[in-house]
Amino acid sequence: MKVGIIGSGGREHSICQSIKKSSKIDKLFCFPGNAGTESIAENIKIDLDDFEKIKNFILKEKIDLVVVGPEKPLVEGLVDYLEQFKINVFGPNKISSQLEGSKIFTKKICEKFNIPTAKFGIFQNRNDAKEFITKSNYPTVVKADNLASGKGVYICNDESQAVSAINEIFDGKFGKAENVLIEEFLDGEEMSFFTIHDGITFKTFETAQDHKRALEGDKGKNTGGMGAYSPSRLITEELKIKIIDKIIKPTLDGLAELGSKYKGFLYTGLMIVNNEPYLIEYNVRMGDPECQTILPKLKTDLTEILIACCESRLDKLNIEWHDKKSLCVVVCSKGYPDKFNKNIEISNIDKIVLSDNEFLFHAGTKKIEDKIFSNGGRVLNFVCLSDNFSKAKKSILRNLHNLNWSNGFYRKDIGYRVVD
Ligand code: AMP
Ligand code: GLY
Repeated sequence: MKVGIIGSGGREHSICQSIKKSSKIDKLFCFPGNAGTESIAENIKIDLDDFEKIKNFILKEKIDLVVVGPEKPLVEGLVDYLEQFKINVFGPNKISSQLEGSKIFTKKICEKFNIPTAKFGIFQNRNDAKEFITKSNYPTVVKADNLASGKGVYICNDESQAVSAINEIFDGKFGKAENVLIEEFLDGEEMSFFTIHDGITFKTFETAQDHKRALEGDKGKNTGGMGAYSPSRLITEELKIKIIDKIIKPTLDGLAELGSKYKGFLYTGLMIVNNEPYLIEYNVRMGDPECQTILPKLKTDLTEILIACCESRLDKLNIEWHDKKSLCVVVCSKGYPDKFNKNIEISNIDKIVLSDNEFLFHAGTKKIEDKIFSNGGRVLNFVCLSDNFSKAKKSILRNLHNLNWSNGFYRKDIGYRVVD
């Protein structure tokens, strides 16, 4: 069969690589992909905003299954659009994708179904928001409603920081703002909980913890993610049941009331406070770099799982995992998440020799005449599976030493909570 993967990050390279392992696969396409996907799939340069061109290509090539990686095309309704043409797509529809596309949409479901989350207020104008923060406890959290690539969240330590956050949001820093969300600061440890859904049933798809801040010690600016490890050190059977019963099931009930069924990966971002889960956010896709961290642990054929989801028979399938720890370190271009240079050759990449438990997923890379160049902020992902996190980290550090890329940087403390 032919499969198309939409996206160009480390997440999509890892999805391509997992799918490729299936005996069912004749050909893979990646839209638009990166230098890593180029070696296992045909990269197709189509603007992801151009739904019609994507659809025409899929129909012309008779692609049997399309997997949508990133949030933007999901929130903009790519799944609904392709399904109109009877294309088989794995990913949530436009209504369900509001779980990520609008924080207020999610908060309203939380309110209606009593889902544990930070206490919040929604304000339509700056004056009401500013009036509210005079009475807030600090720190307090100010959030833009729309998709902001993880950047529309301000943790404010005093009123003046909150005022400037409100001003930036209403001044349009993250696009036109009709609302601002102000919420209680939750003091706990974050964890990501993944599930996979076929519209009727769902199954758990591992847990992870990521490091979102750019600098060591979880300091500096928020990024897409500098590294991750799986499983989360917080997960227990008891906590898993609470997350499913108090958060995920009521959310699916909320979507059902709106006439929507959830199909795709769901990423539940949680704060765990005294062993109780609170919903921080939903993402309607796999995390990046959590996907790269988790997929190497998957024993069951990913292609079989995705087909089962598209045919609503996930309940018949047993998803099996290797009993291993996985760690991922992301190599970024110096300067990320602010200004950085592109088109810098990564000359030692050919010298990296990976063992069976080691993986190298490309993100912002491109290939020109057999040479690999950087093409984005997050560039490479080094992953290792091992019996313990410390061994995994050691082998990643060895590979990073061999890479020795002068334009790159990475956090040396990824997994500090689980590595000895
Ligand atoms: P979000 O985009 O909503 O996931 O927020 C980005 C990051 O901000 C989260 O991963 C948390 O680290 C932090 N954050 C968001 N909301 C809260 C909250 N209510 N309390 C504490 N930290 C938060
Ligand atoms: N690693 C965080 C995210 O994918 O949103």
